[in-house]
Amino acid sequence: MANPRGAPPLPHPRLRRLPRSPVSRCACLLLAFTALLLLSALHQVSNEQLWASNSYGYHACIMPTSRYKVPGESDRYMTVRSNGGLNQMRTGICDMVAVARLVNATLVIPQLDKRSFWQDTSTFKDIFDEAYFIKALERDVRIVSDLPASLQSAPRARKHFTSWSGASYYEELKELWKNQKKLVERLRSRGNFIALHLRYEKDMLAFTGCAYGLSDSEANELRILRERTSHWRLKDINSTEQRSEGNCPLTPNEVGIFLRSMGYPESTWIYLAAGEIYGGDKYLSKLRSYFTNLVSKEMLATKEELEKFKNHASQVAALDYIIAVESDVFVPSHSGNMAKVVEGHRRFLGHRRTITPDRRGLVELFDLLERGDLIEGPKLSSLVTEMHKYRQGAPRKRYGSLPGSKGRARLRTEESFYENPLPECICLTGKH
Ligand SMILES: *[C@@H]1O[C@H](CO)[C@@H](O)[C@H](O)[C@H]1NC(C)=O
Ligand SMILES: *[C@@H]1O[C@H](CO)[C@@H](O)[C@H](O)[C@H]1NC(C)=O
Repeated sequence: MANPRGAPPLPHPRLRRLPRSPVSRCACLLLAFTALLLLSALHQVSNEQLWASNSYGYHACIMPTSRYKVPGESDRYMTVRSNGGLNQMRTGICDMVAVARLVNATLVIPQLDKRSFWQDTSTFKDIFDEAYFIKALERDVRIVSDLPASLQSAPRARKHFTSWSGASYYEELKELWKNQKKLVERLRSRGNFIALHLRYEKDMLAFTGCAYGLSDSEANELRILRERTSHWRLKDINSTEQRSEGNCPLTPNEVGIFLRSMGYPESTWIYLAAGEIYGGDKYLSKLRSYFTNLVSKEMLATKEELEKFKNHASQVAALDYIIAVESDVFVPSHSGNMAKVVEGHRRFLGHRRTITPDRRGLVELFDLLERGDLIEGPKLSSLVTEMHKYRQGAPRKRYGSLPGSKGRARLRTEESFYENPLPECICLTGKH
């Protein structure tokens, strides 16, 4: 209560009646203290605060303007080979759709990289609905399954693309949903769920040089992997500095503390969208100690269903992608292609809630916890909740490039279109 004169606050009427004897006074204080604890336990975060999304009147808008022309006949063809993991390939393909339109070329269905460490023989057709892809984009680009026979052996101009451009379509992935929704339904039947992209995987830890909480031999193993991987340019990394700068994926234990502090109850269903967790159950069990209902696809799918995905890492990644987009809340433990495209897709579908951990800020709190200067409880909860008030995927315009940057750096520092397609593909109701 406001006390403008600076006088000591009046005691609460009840407290004024406290008995004088030290023993009974102590008992009363204890009672009051217990009541306070009970009150704070009852002061739980509402379901609305935990699960609801709000798009504040924004909606997807992808209708072309009247000046937008349907592509005409063209005798130029563009063949594309995409590399990287699933999400990198996907953004690459979207970029190439835009490029094909710009250069008035007919796009040949892209070939997916089969040689990377994904070691996956899946073709475009195995992951995407090819017929739908062609149909959905017919007003944008002409697409064919194969290069005409007469051109098969014709010489081709080659070009390597680096992508920071945008494409005018987004809808095609909807089709992916058709056949693999079973797992989503199984999750749905249990109530609200979080999809957690737990990027606590060997390659990630080795690449970022994050060894916090690992044993010496594990840290060593990761360092050797980093040194041997020639295309990772950074070799000498100070793990402590990486972590305090917020460059490390959260550990399973840290994710547990984080989500509990955000108010999610122990019984919350959490779907683990991830590859193999480094250290396996040794680290994962720490997250499970916070959230008992932690499920992976191995626990949701039958053996036969999983058998189909054996040796098809891209298709498994597609499954995780779908569940991540369909979840009530999506939480990525690290930034990366998957985190970005899922967040963007969720924004497109109505600003579904995506909670992006403030890793740099959280690490400060985790360090306080570790030193015993802070304990898990209401204080930590309010700090964490406040820190993430504006990190939950609400509508906002895409961030532009860093002020003062020029040329390629200007494009590079701009937030990715795939991460936030507002304003191009998302409009405020009443406009467009
Ligand atoms: C593509 O076609 C449009 C209209 O037909 C034309 O204005 C444009 O210059 C063409 N672009 C290229 C790269 O040929
Ligand atoms: C890593 O950085 C921290 C903090 O700057 C420093 O205290 C530590 O000595 C560094 N470690 C190594 C091995 O250089």
